Amino acid sequence: MRRALIVLSALLFSAVGAKAGVWETTCSGCHNGVVAPTKETLLSKFKTRREFMAAVREAVSKGKMPPGLKYGMAARELFGMAKRGGKQVSPTSSSQGKVTGDPYAKYKRFFEPLPALPPIPADNPLTPEKVQLGKMLYYDPRLSRSKIISCNTCHNLSLGGDDNVKTSLGDHWRTGGRNAPTTLNSGFLRVQFWDGRAPTLEAQAKGPIQAHVEMNSTPEIVVRRLKAIPEYVELFKKAFPGEKDPVTFENVAKAIAAFERTLNTPNSPFQRYLLGDSNALTKEQKEGMALFVKYGCIACHSGPVFSDGRFHKFKWNNDLGRYRVTKNPADKYKFRTPQLLNVAVTAPYFHDGSVNSLEEAVKIMAQKELGKKLTGEEAKKIADFLRSLTGEVPLEARLLPQLPGNNPE
Ligand code: HEC
Ligand code: HEC
Ligand code: HEC
Repeated sequence: MRRALIVLSALLFSAVGAKAGVWETTCSGCHNGVVAPTKETLLSKFKTRREFMAAVREAVSKGKMPPGLKYGMAARELFGMAKRGGKQVSPTSSSQGKVTGDPYAKYKRFFEPLPALPPIPADNPLTPEKVQLGKMLYYDPRLSRSKIISCNTCHNLSLGGDDNVKTSLGDHWRTGGRNAPTTLNSGFLRVQFWDGRAPTLEAQAKGPIQAHVEMNSTPEIVVRRLKAIPEYVELFKKAFPGEKDPVTFENVAKAIAAFERTLNTPNSPFQRYLLGDSNALTKEQKEGMALFVKYGCIACHSGPVFSDGRFHKFKWNNDLGRYRVTKNPADKYKFRTPQLLNVAVTAPYFHDGSVNSLEEAVKIMAQKELGKKLTGEEAKKIADFLRSLTGEVPLEARLLPQLPGNNPE
């Protein structure tokens, strides 16, 4: 019965996913050459669709890939070929025979624990001096024209790194407001913003300072104000040793980005579970984890922060998403997969903050991204699983810094 259901839903997926490009939307997130071989590598290894599907079956039975994805459809895309035959692979119960006492342990392999730090770019090494300066700048409202708005106003580190309102105050995005995502763990995201318009945290940080709807400042104002505060000049010298004139807008962004790369939230129940504490999750949460894999949420919400960093169609309102950045018609209504760490404390959901309940968000996702109607019970289990992704915000980051200087013009 279970199996029949999976096959049935797989057929449904195929019908729904026909236009989207299954490889691009479902497989490429993991098959990026890091986690699993790229499309090119696979195509050079397998000459026929049959060989390819045999390898898929093998990988699924070994638990390397989730069951229930549109493998047959993807194979058809890659190899052309006749209509049917790419049979849906169903889960096998032989998970290499290891009895662990936790029947859900076999799902762990689909997830990655959160590393202590995200990748650090070579041109912005992480140093304690820079992080300390970045923290002050993050909290300093004097970077804004009005001197009342700081990054922490909208990305409050005591409130899950966001502002818990639908769309941020003073926010006038061109085609409607967007919800502030959390800055926690943002260093792990492959691109920044809902539409991915900033490639790095450094590039990202320059945006809100200047955006007239956010901090409405200019690089000149920022640099002038900071240079007027001797303590800041000293801190910049320490953070950027050897630079003649270290108080620059560029370095403001670098310091903030360095601080953000320390805003990681280890020690969530799920992290503890992955690292071996099989009692860290409730039975409900484990069932939710299994559904998250089986139904294919993992296809997009993958990796240490549950985001493949890619763009997927989510037609929800008239926000054109990625299209605004690329002007490519194929990108209309596409949004970058958001991370799901700490999602329980970052309501409301979606790019417009239009949904308050996590259960509701889960149901909408299943319906729109996977063509699947979840029962209330299933949605609750998955939401309960997602609640286990709430980690600990480092105390150091939450303690308000003592800001130097008084109020220069
Ligand atoms: C959750 C991550 C994930 C997703 C999603 C995923 N794969 Fe995989 N895939 C893997 C991993 C991991 C392996 C094993 C790689 C290895 O053994 O080196 C693998 C192996 C394979 C192999 C066998 C490669 C070989 O050399 O034997 C094929 C074929 C394949 N995947 C196709 C697909 C297709 C088609 C899709 C989309 C419908 C897909 N995969 C989705 C992670 C994923
Ligand atoms: C007025 C509220 C506001 C202020 C102030 C603000 N932000 Fe944001 N932030 C947002 C909104 C809204 C978005 C999403 C915009 C979008 O994607 O189009 C965002 C997005 C981000 C992201 C991307 C996260 C992701 O998941 O893509 C980061 C990182 C970030 N902001 C950091 C900062 C930093 C650093 C500052 C201070 C220099 C700052 N923000 C100031 C509202 C704000
Ligand atoms: C095809 C890729 C894809 C699949 C499959 C997918 N998601 Fe998503 N998910 C996204 C994208 C893209 C968004 C951002 C939507 C938007 O623009 O608001 C998102 C948003 C979310 C959000 C809201 C996060 C926030 O901070 O606002 C949750 C919760 C979520 N997904 C959970 C799930 C669950 C649970 C499943 C499986 C039932 C799932 N997703 C399947 C791509 C996907």
